[in-house]
Amino acid sequence: MRPSLIGVAPYDPGASLDELKERYGLDEIAKLNWNEGLLGPFPGVREAVADELENAWKYPEQAYSDFREALAAGIGTIPARIVPGHGIQALIVSVANAFLEPGDAVVVPVPTYGLYTQVCTAAGARVVSVPSRDHRHDIEAVAAAAARAGARLVWLCDPNNPTGSLADRGEWEALLAALPERCAVVVDEAYVEFVEPERRLLREQDVEAGRPVLLLRTFSKIFGLAGLRLGYALAHESLASYLDVVQEPFNVNRAALAAGRASLRRLDLVQERRRENASARAVLSDALRDAGARPFPSEANFVLADVGVDDLELAESLLRGGLLIRPGSEFGLHGCVRITVGPAPLMERVGKEVGKAREELLGAIAS
Ligand SMILES: Cc1ncc(COP(=O)(O)O)c(C=O)c1O
Repeated sequence: MRPSLIGVAPYDPGASLDELKERYGLDEIAKLNWNEGLLGPFPGVREAVADELENAWKYPEQAYSDFREALAAGIGTIPARIVPGHGIQALIVSVANAFLEPGDAVVVPVPTYGLYTQVCTAAGARVVSVPSRDHRHDIEAVAAAAARAGARLVWLCDPNNPTGSLADRGEWEALLAALPERCAVVVDEAYVEFVEPERRLLREQDVEAGRPVLLLRTFSKIFGLAGLRLGYALAHESLASYLDVVQEPFNVNRAALAAGRASLRRLDLVQERRRENASARAVLSDALRDAGARPFPSEANFVLADVGVDDLELAESLLRGGLLIRPGSEFGLHGCVRITVGPAPLMERVGKEVGKAREELLGAIAS
């Protein structure tokens, strides 16, 4: 294997839901740890997937270009600027394959989604990490680090996982203006559909203008299709064509493509889900505040909160009651937890359970 793989650990998804149910003697677990779209697929998607199975014997050549065209029409761009992939995860690997040579520098603000660093390190790149400030990307420091290192890529998750923070237009423009020569920004917009329209940056316009920007988007979140693995890159054809060179030709399966097309027919529902998510997220944040925790502002379908106690112990305590959340220690944020937004009554329950667990843990410390 490549020497750059030495010391890079493979992704570990942890115990499965069935294992956890058995371990804790639970019938049900509310899955609030991975920010999937808990409402599931849009209406019409199940039927479209079932119908498509008749074609399962054929390679998805036409289906692939039909999806590309439908998506391009929905976004208002040309199909050559869209590269479908089986999830953003696969596209992150393709971006690294297309644009990085061993020894190249890349800039990654931290904390953020862990796959950028893992994939770039495995590709032999030198990862320059830039700490965030007050749980927000420090964009000025990111731009300075990119210039200093002569970086080939800057990775920006926006809204950011796990903090939920969003860059503003001034920060984004300043980053673009300060990029060194031969450097592109890869923006992971996995959660962008949850952002209020007036705060959304519309980076597709930067792509249209031919700026060095690659956007990664997914059907795993607001479209509720995480299990089918469908995402896409949006980039000017001068960059997008290289992703097509390194990706396998039909890297998305027919079921996912059919689900994607059926979802695109119901884009009216995106706004509905965004509103529903925003009001449940407010319920969660209020409930966490009532519980004595400190939630950070979020523009996504999850909330990061400082719970002021050991996050691993708090997560374990919630799991005993059937609530699976993500301890912040897993991404270096000790004392914090990240919780996926679900229906409002469930969010109230989560707040109460966090309050109970905090009291128990604080009581144990005091005694
Ligand atoms: C920031 C971010 N990017 C990408 C992904 C994965 O996206 P996909 O399911 O499209 O591979 C996730 C999943 O949690 C994520 O949080």
